[in-house]
Amino acid sequence: MKVGLVGLGVIGSRVGEKLADSGSLRLVYNRTQATAAAFGKAWGVGVSESIQELVRESDVVFTILSDDEAVSSFFGGISGVPIKGKTFIDMSTIGPSTSVAIASDIKRRAASMLDAPVVGSANMVERKEAVLMVGGGDADFERVKPLLSQIANVVLYIGPNGAGLSLKLVHNLVLASYVVSLGEAVNFGLNGGLDPKMIEHLLVSLSSIRSPNSALKVPKILGSDYVTQFSLKHMIKDLNIIEAEARKQRSVIPMGSLALQLYRLAEKRGLAEKDFSAVAELFRESAGQSQH
Ligand SMILES: NC(=O)c1ccc[n+]([C@@H]2O[C@H](COP(=O)([O-])OP(=O)(O)OC[C@H]3O[C@@H](n4cnc5c(N)ncnc54)[C@H](OP(=O)(O)O)[C@@H]3O)[C@@H](O)[C@H]2O)c1
Repeated sequence: MKVGLVGLGVIGSRVGEKLADSGSLRLVYNRTQATAAAFGKAWGVGVSESIQELVRESDVVFTILSDDEAVSSFFGGISGVPIKGKTFIDMSTIGPSTSVAIASDIKRRAASMLDAPVVGSANMVERKEAVLMVGGGDADFERVKPLLSQIANVVLYIGPNGAGLSLKLVHNLVLASYVVSLGEAVNFGLNGGLDPKMIEHLLVSLSSIRSPNSALKVPKILGSDYVTQFSLKHMIKDLNIIEAEARKQRSVIPMGSLALQLYRLAEKRGLAEKDFSAVAELFRESAGQSQH
C-alpha cells in the first residue's frame, strides 16, 4: 500500500513522523514546499511537487489541512486525476457537511474517503496518545485500520461519513469553554493574592476538575507561554463550525457561543496565531497584568 500525506503543519508533521517511523510513508506534499523538503530529508521519504503527482502515485492519501477551504481546494485540485480504488483519509477538522459532500463525490469516482479527525494535542500524537474517530464505510475503515493504528493507540469507528467529525466537535465544544474557564480561574486566584504554585497544584494535581488539558495549559497560562500547539484561529474555526451545525440542529450552545466571542476578542488583540490558551490573556489584560 503506497501512502502519501498532504499537509505538514503542527499535527500533519507528527502524523507523518509516526507513519514514516513505521516504514509506511512514501510521499509527502506541503503547500510551502520548503517544509516538505525538510521533512523528506529528515525522514527519508519522497517529496511530491504537486498534489496531482502525489495522488497519482499513492494508494492511500492522508490530508491534514487547516479548514474547509483548504480541504475543498485539495479535492478540487485533483478532480482531473484518476482515483479509482484509492482511499482518502482526511484528518483535518472541518464541517461534517463539507466532508460528506466530498466523500459522495469521491464515491462517484469509484474511490473512498474517511473522515478521521484527531482528539489530542501535538505532544499526544507524538506519544500515540491521541484518539482517532473515523467516519465512512466500515469495510474501508477495516482496510486502513492497521495504518491508522500506527498513528494512535485508540482508533474508533464511529459511523457513516461525517460521524467522526461530529464527535470531534463535541470534544472541542467542551475544550473551548474549559480553557476559557481555566484562564478566568487562574486570574481570579492571582488577583486574590494566591501563590501561583498553589493554584497550579490544585488545578493540575488535586482538583476533581483536573485533566490532561489542565496539566498542559495551566502552567502555560501562569507563565504566559503561548507557543502554538493548537492555534487560537483554529479554535475559532471549530467554534464557527459548531455554531453552524447547532443552528441546523436547533441545539442551544450558550457556553460555546460565549467562548467564541471571547476567542474572537483575543483574535482582535493579535493572538490568532498563538496557542488557543492565549485567550487567558483577556483576563490578565482586564486586570492590567498582561505579560504578553
Ligand atoms: N494542532 C492541534 O493540536 C490539532 C489537534 C486536533 C486537530 N487539529 C486539526 O488538524 C488540522 C491541522 O491543524 P494544524 O494545527 O496542523 O494546523 P497548521 O499547523 O496551521 O497546518 C495547516 C496545514 O494546512 C496547510 N494549508 C493551509 N491552508 C491551505 C490551503 N489553502 N491549501 C493547501 N494547504 C493549506 C498548511 O500549509 P503551509 O505549511 O503551506 O501553511 C499546513 O500544512 C486543523 O483542521 C486542526 O483543527 C489540530
